[in-house]
Formats: sequence, structure tokens, C-alpha cells
Amino acid sequence: MIQKQKGCNDIYGRTAKIWKFIDTVVDATMEKYNYNYIRTPIIEATELFHRGIGESTDIVTKETYDFVDRGKRHITLRPEGTAGVVRSYIENKMYGTPNQPVKVYYNGTMYRYERPQSGRDRELTQFGMEILGSDDPLSDAEIISLAVNIYKMLGLKEIKVNINSLGDNESRQKYREALIAYFKPHIDELCDDCKERLEKNPLRILDCKVDQDNPLLKNAPKTLDFLNEESRDRFEQVQDYLDILEVKYEINPNIVRGLDYYNHTVFEIEAKVAGFGSNNVLGGGGRYNGLCRMLDGPDTPCIGFACGIGRLVQALELEQVDLPIVEDIDLFLMYVNEEEKKYAAYLSQELRLAGFIVDTDYVNRSLKAQFKQADRLNAKYIAILNSEDLNNNEIKIKNNKTKEEEIISLDVLIYYLDEKINTEADITDECQCDDECEGNCSHDCHCGHHH
Ligand code: HAM
Repeated sequence: MIQKQKGCNDIYGRTAKIWKFIDTVVDATMEKYNYNYIRTPIIEATELFHRGIGESTDIVTKETYDFVDRGKRHITLRPEGTAGVVRSYIENKMYGTPNQPVKVYYNGTMYRYERPQSGRDRELTQFGMEILGSDDPLSDAEIISLAVNIYKMLGLKEIKVNINSLGDNESRQKYREALIAYFKPHIDELCDDCKERLEKNPLRILDCKVDQDNPLLKNAPKTLDFLNEESRDRFEQVQDYLDILEVKYEINPNIVRGLDYYNHTVFEIEAKVAGFGSNNVLGGGGRYNGLCRMLDGPDTPCIGFACGIGRLVQALELEQVDLPIVEDIDLFLMYVNEEEKKYAAYLSQELRLAGFIVDTDYVNRSLKAQFKQADRLNAKYIAILNSEDLNNNEIKIKNNKTKEEEIISLDVLIYYLDEKINTEADITDECQCDDECEGNCSHDCHCGHHH
């Protein structure tokens, strides 16, 4: 039997429904913040990631899927979305449009050749967003609050926002020197990769997966102590805006991020729910003012964020968030003979076009087995087609919960179902907000209703 590749997942059943729900919430929230959807290719020139993400990052040195295509081009499956978005921004001269800054979001598959474990896949899906062309601290705060709001709209409660600042180039340079001075006397205690990182890119030692438990890393100098006045002031402004947007956060000086393009604000959002393994970071991002220039574009200040959807699905399941996922159908159409079957085919089409979720039998089940199938599909109603009723322009409808049956005129079937199904939905829709609000709050709840 041929099996899926290591670190890849088949998404189906309930997980697929949660996944689609996440996509809907992401689309709806991005629309409110006025971010435009962007789709860039999964394959890009290998050089884009080497220059963009950084030659000494784990992602580039160990984790890319590289190949040479039939035209001898060096191609890489994208490990993340930001570099491709910036390439597209430059190539399509988006910096020249009057509508600035450019606010875009994406949702797509990325590839990282990592050691597969829970929450760490080789094929992963991220949604993410970027603001290109603004250095305003409000844009930093907006990206963080947008990310938090998506998690809130999905119903997640147990999240924690960690922020930090790497500062501008001058501050980063000072920090780099301090790291080299700190690690140099202890070089023998570091892994082989870190020995090389020391001169090339000492910041990368801090997110080494091999040395991560070494106390040396924990006690290393912190970025915040090396910020110049301007960078410190900017970081404070970001925090002021976060307070205005009512985003709760913690300053965590250990957040340095695993990609080289960052400066100033960096942040990660963690799931605090019990049962999550070590890969509990739902998403992360930060400011990358130098990337556009590095990729031969104009100097453009940018900030963005990306979230792994697989981890998000896990968090929603672990937190047992009550998701508005449709796991039932409105009507199951049952029949016995060929004439009834033809009518079932016609009627299912009519009712689906009228907006109902309808299913029927396609494998010649007995009537008894069709009842069982209706139960398996959680049918709210069952229509038992019968030639005699149909000749009288009638149909037998059974409420599959109460087991009550009625024979009604076919002329009123749509009105009948509409009233029954929509009235019941109104009664069973409960508020999904905080327990304390008891449905008396006055805001949009993730169940889609205004309470
Ligand atoms: P990142 O931290 O590398 O940032 O990835 C963001 C998120 O993608 C992670 O927090 C995690 O949820 C998910 N993720 C990453 N790797 C894996 C994996 N192997 N398996 C499952 N999930 C994974 C970026 O990608 C940046 N492009 C974010 C950004 C946007 N910065 C600025 N703009």
C-alpha cells in the first residue's frame, strides 16, 4: 500500500470541517480589516529564500525542499509566505499604487523538511497577513490585534501574546556584539552548528533546537537591554497602541524568531491549553523593514504575521471550543421503487436549490437500512416517498427527533421545511461568549449572531 509522505496529513471528516470554518473566519475578519487576498506560487527561485530568510537560519540550511527543474532552474517549495509576498510586491510594483500601505493576506501550503512530531509537519498550511509600506507603530499593533481577534472569533480563550523588540540596525549590531562576547568563552559547550553560528549570526544560537535546554541560552544577554533610545521609544508606542486596542500581552525578551529578516517588534502567540506539547506556538510574526531592499526592491517598512492552521485545529479541539460546524442534514429522502426514486432525484434537486441540506440513498438500501443511514447522517427530517402519496400530490414527513409523522401537500413542502428547520435553529442557537455574559452581552459572537 502506498502511504502518505512523512510529516504530511490527510485532512478529512470533522477536521476538514473545522479547517473550512477557520478559513471562513479568516476571510471574514481580514475583510473587516480591509486586507486583500493574495495568492503567490508555491514554487519560487531558491535564491529568494536564501536571501530573504537568511543563509544561516535552520529553515534555509536544513529544511527547504529544493530541486532542479527540467530547465535546470534551482527551485524551492516555499517554507513560508512572506518572502513570496515581498517578491510579488516588488515584481508587480505594488509600491507604486496610490493605495498605501498595501495590506494583503494569504492562506496556503508551505513545506519544511523538519523532524516530524506533533505540531511540526513537513507539509503545513499557514494563513498570514502583511502590511507593506508603513512604519507606523499602529500597524504593528494592528497586526497583533488582528491575529488575536481571529483566535477570539474562532472561540479560543486560552491564548497568550508575547512581544519583544529587536530594535533597529544599530541596536541589533550592539546586541550581536554582546552575544559574541557572551558565548565566546563557552564555545565548547555549544553544538557544532552553534560554533559556526557564533561569528556568522549569533542570534541564531538562541533558537537552536539542539542547545535549547542549555542554561547558557536562558542567561544570554537580552535584546531589550541594547535598544537605542529611538527603538525603545518606538517599542513603547507599539505598547500604547496595544493598550488602546485592548490587547493583553506580555513582554518576553526570549522571543527572537527563527528568520533573519526581523527588526523592531517581534511577537508570538501561544496556546495555553493543557495537553499541547512543546509546539504550542500558534503563530508568530514581526517587523521586517530591510527585506524589500534585500530583494532589490525599494526601502519599504513592513510587518506581518503567520499562523499554522494544523496547530490551530489542535488548539480548538483541546480547548473543546463549541464550533458552529454542521454535522447534520436537513432532510433525508427515502424511496422503494423506481418511480419514487426518480421523484427523490427531482425533489432533492429542488430542495437543494432552495437552500436545504438534502441527501438520499445511492446504494439500493432496504427501507430499514435507509432509516439507519438517515440516523447516521443526523437527518433532522425524513421524507418517506410513496407512490400513492405522490399521486395525491402529498408527501410523508417525519421529524427524526420526535418521530412525529405528518402527511403534507407537496405544494407547501418548502414552506413547511423552512418554518420547521429555521424555527428550531433559532431556539437551539446559544451564545458562545464568556459564561458570565449569559447571552445578554451586546457584541458579535462567533456563532455569527449579534447578541
Ligand atoms: P514562523 O514562525 O516560521 O513564521 O511560522 C509561523 C507559524 O507557522 C508557526 O507559529 C506555526 O504555527 C506554523 N508552523 C511553522 N512551522 C511549522 C511546521 N513545521 N509544522 C506546523 N506548523 C508550523 C513565518 O513563517 C513568518 N513568515 C511569519 C511572518 C509573516 N513574519 C512576518 N510576516
